[in-house]
Amino acid sequence: MFEEMPILPPDSILGLAAACRADPNPDKVDLTIGIYMDEAGLCPVFNAIKQAQRQLVDEEQSKAYLAPQGDPAFLEGLTELVVGAERLASRPGAVGAVQAPGGCGAVRLGAEVLKASGTDGKVWVSDPSWPVHVPLITSTGLALESYRYYDPQSQGVNFEGMVTDLGAARRGDIVLLHGCCHNPSGADLNPEQWQVIASMAVEQGFTPMIDLAYQGFGEGLEADVYGLRHLIDLVPEVVIAASLSKNMGLYRERTGLAIFVGPDARTAEATVSQAKAAARRIYSMPPAHGALLAGRVLADAALRADWETELAGMCGRINQLRSDFQSRLEAASGRDFSFIARENGMFSFLGLSVDQALSLRSERSLYMLDSSRINIASLNASNMDRVVDAVASVL
Ligand code: LMR
Repeated sequence: MFEEMPILPPDSILGLAAACRADPNPDKVDLTIGIYMDEAGLCPVFNAIKQAQRQLVDEEQSKAYLAPQGDPAFLEGLTELVVGAERLASRPGAVGAVQAPGGCGAVRLGAEVLKASGTDGKVWVSDPSWPVHVPLITSTGLALESYRYYDPQSQGVNFEGMVTDLGAARRGDIVLLHGCCHNPSGADLNPEQWQVIASMAVEQGFTPMIDLAYQGFGEGLEADVYGLRHLIDLVPEVVIAASLSKNMGLYRERTGLAIFVGPDARTAEATVSQAKAAARRIYSMPPAHGALLAGRVLADAALRADWETELAGMCGRINQLRSDFQSRLEAASGRDFSFIARENGMFSFLGLSVDQALSLRSERSLYMLDSSRINIASLNASNMDRVVDAVASVL
């Protein structure tokens, strides 16, 4: 049966991280996968998560399945963190949420529910976007269309191109937007641009879907959901895929949430029932551990304050790395890298060609994606000089 089966190439992100791990060069640098690394080059466990974990070990009575919708404290805490208490109060019962295995699982559940609506519309995805959006959405049978987003010349958002392309989005179409910290470019919409997109959604009738994987890594927990909440204020239906992989460091615990904001309680019940049915046919029940930890952290004032402080520290460190990297690159190359400090979150395109990215990999053991996307959060005082020197050498 499997004799003729083709062997697939490695994943464009995970495959490179694996190639870097296998590289024997002691000076190698991995700027591939989007994981927050501290100054020691480690992906830390948040202090609040460690404390919640100790509590859980002492108190957990059972490993029976979670309810299909997910852990109640997690559902309530994360929905409120994303949507905000005021908007939840203004639409009583109209927001439904289903726990999902990570942000990926939440995007897939969201797409499954959109497909179940019977729409024959397309899903508009930014060019470029996180590559996994494509299989996650098309595996439901929904068709894709792309809209211009990042302009390599200006190294920022091509808002004019975006608005022109989305001008063709119709009722029944879905527009996938990155809530903050756009992956792969780091270039985000400003509040005025979010307002334009929200007005277009109202006038043209398309449904926004927000991938929110980096809340708190851009300008702060509240500022990073400005656009999403503005959409909720104006648009009758919004789908959100939230992930706690990065902002609670729960990467391997697969802790995500699909949120359906609708006009009324009946719609919320319908979307939740469809998401639960989709989950049942794909993986049955959500994983418990990450959600039980996150639910505790979000509900307990002391743990939550500790988490928010640690997250703000990470965000501040990334911003400092952005500014150090910019000035060092500019000093080494004589070129303008000011775009790096303007961007948000972990990612930035260095603007290198595929050949330059490949040569840095083979000659210098410096690993970035072929597109020259780097994870800024993997830079530190010990590898910064090597990275700057290597990049300057190919410019
Ligand atoms: C990334 O873009 O590197 C992260 O979101 C990790 C992943 O799963 O691709």
